[in-house]
Amino acid sequence: MTELNKVGQFATAMLNAATLDDLLWSIAENIGKTLGFDDCVIYLNVNKVLIQKAAYGIKNPNDRELLNSIMIKVGQGIVGAVAQSKVAEVIPNTALDTRYINDEFSGKSEITVPIIFENNTIGIIDSESANLDNYDSHDVELLQIIANIAAPRIASALYRSTLQKTQLQLEKTNGKLETSLYELKKNQEILIHSEKMASIGLLAAGVAHEINNPLSFSISNLTVFKDYYDHIKEMHEKLISHAEMPLELKNQLLSEDYSHTITDIANIVEETNEGLLRIKNIVSDLCGYIRKEDRNFSNFDINDGIKTAINVLKGEINNDCHLELNLENLPSIQGNKSKIHQVFVNIILNALQATDKNGLIKVKTYRNNNHACIDITDNGSGIENKNLQNIFTPFFTTKPVNKGTGLGLFICHRIITEEHTGRIQVSSNDNETTFRIMLPFINANYEEKSLTLQH
Ligand SMILES: Nc1ncnc2c1ncn2[C@@H]1O[C@H](COP(=O)(O)OP(=O)(O)OP(=O)(O)O)[C@@H](O)[C@H]1O
Ligand SMILES: [Mg+2]
Repeated sequence: MTELNKVGQFATAMLNAATLDDLLWSIAENIGKTLGFDDCVIYLNVNKVLIQKAAYGIKNPNDRELLNSIMIKVGQGIVGAVAQSKVAEVIPNTALDTRYINDEFSGKSEITVPIIFENNTIGIIDSESANLDNYDSHDVELLQIIANIAAPRIASALYRSTLQKTQLQLEKTNGKLETSLYELKKNQEILIHSEKMASIGLLAAGVAHEINNPLSFSISNLTVFKDYYDHIKEMHEKLISHAEMPLELKNQLLSEDYSHTITDIANIVEETNEGLLRIKNIVSDLCGYIRKEDRNFSNFDINDGIKTAINVLKGEINNDCHLELNLENLPSIQGNKSKIHQVFVNIILNALQATDKNGLIKVKTYRNNNHACIDITDNGSGIENKNLQNIFTPFFTTKPVNKGTGLGLFICHRIITEEHTGRIQVSSNDNETTFRIMLPFINANYEEKSLTLQH
C-alpha cells in the first residue's frame, strides 16, 4: 500500500465515525493496522490532563475495552512533554529516557505525536513497540500528517459532545425549573386557597360578631315579653272567670278571635325563641370556626364539627337541596379542629355544587373499629370514571375558570392522610357520590404535635 493510500484509507475511516468515541477508536485501529504498529493509544487533553481514550493492540484486548486507562499531566513523562512542546518525538530506547513512565505495558521504543488544533494540543497519538528502535523519522512524518488530518475532526466532535452535554444539562436544569415553577404555583395557589377560606371565615365571623349584640337583646327582650305575656294571660283568665264581669265584655273575651290570639301569641313566642336560639348557635359556631388559625391538636367531637360546617355553609344551601343527617354518638377524636372543619366544608360544598333541583346530601357518622367514619353522599352529577383518579391531584377541576381552583380535595387529602393519619376514599356512580373519611380515635400525630408545641 502506498503512503497516499494509507492516508486515504485513514481519512475515509474517519469520515464514517459518527461520535467522538467512534472517531478515537477508529483512529487508533487504523493507525495500528495501516502503519503496522503493535500498539497505539489516543489521549485527549482534558484541562491539562491527558486521558487515554482509545487504543489498539495490547491495551485493547476486546472490542472498545481499554485496559488500565491512565492519566498523565501535561508536562509529565514523554507524552506530557510532547503535549507541552507540541513537537513529535521518537524515543529509540525508552530505558535511556528518564521521562519514560513505566507501566505494565512498557515498550522498548516509542513514538509520540501531538494532535494540534488552533495552536492547542487537544490530544496525543502514542505508540510503543516491544522492539528497540522501532520507529524512524518517516513514521513521525506520516503520523503527524494523520494527526493533522484528525485534529479538526476531533475538535469538532469534542465541540459537538460538549454541546450535547450542555444541552442535556440545560434540559435537566429546565426540567428542574419547570418542577420548581409548578411547586411554586401550587404553593401559591394553596396559600390563596387558604387565604380564601380564611377570608370567607373572617367575613362570616365579622357578620356574626355584628349580629351578636342585637341578637342578645332580642333574646333577652323575648324572655321579658314572655313574662309579660304570662302575666296578661293570667289576667285574661281571671277576668273571664270574674263573676261581676259584664256579659258583653265577657263574650268578647271568650270570642274565638280573641282566645285564638292569646294562644297564638304563645306559639309565636315559642317559635321566635327557637329561631333566635338557632341563630345564636350559628353565630357561636361561626366565631369558633374562624378563631385564628389553630395549629393545635385537641380532642373534639366529629358530630359538632359536621354541624358547624353545615352552619358555615347555610348561605350556600338553598331550598332545592335537602340535607339529611344521621349522626351516631362517637367518642371524641384527636386532631386539629379547624382543619377538620375545613375538610367537611370543602366536601359538603363540592356536594352542594354538584347537585341542582331535588338535591339530597346525606351525612352519616359511625364507628368502624378504631376509626370514626364520616360518609358524605350526594345525588348530584357524579364523577366520571376517568376523573376519579385525578380528583385529589392539585389543580384538577371540571369547574369553569374562576369557579374552582381544583385545590379543595388536594388540601382535604393532605389534612386527612398526612396530618391526621386517616384515610379518604371516594366512590361514584350514576346515582350517588360518596366521600368517606376515616379518622383514628387515637392519633399518632397527636402526641408528636403536642410535644412539639411544648418547646
Ligand atoms: N361531590 C362531587 N360530585 C361530583 N364531582 C365532584 C364532587 N366532588 C368533587 N368533584 C370533582 O372533583 C373536582 C376537584 O374537586 P376540588 O374540590 O379539588 O376542586 P374544585 O371544587 O373544582 O375547586 P376548589 O379548589 O374551589 O374546591 C371537581 O372539579 C369536580 O369535578
Ligand atoms: Mg371544591
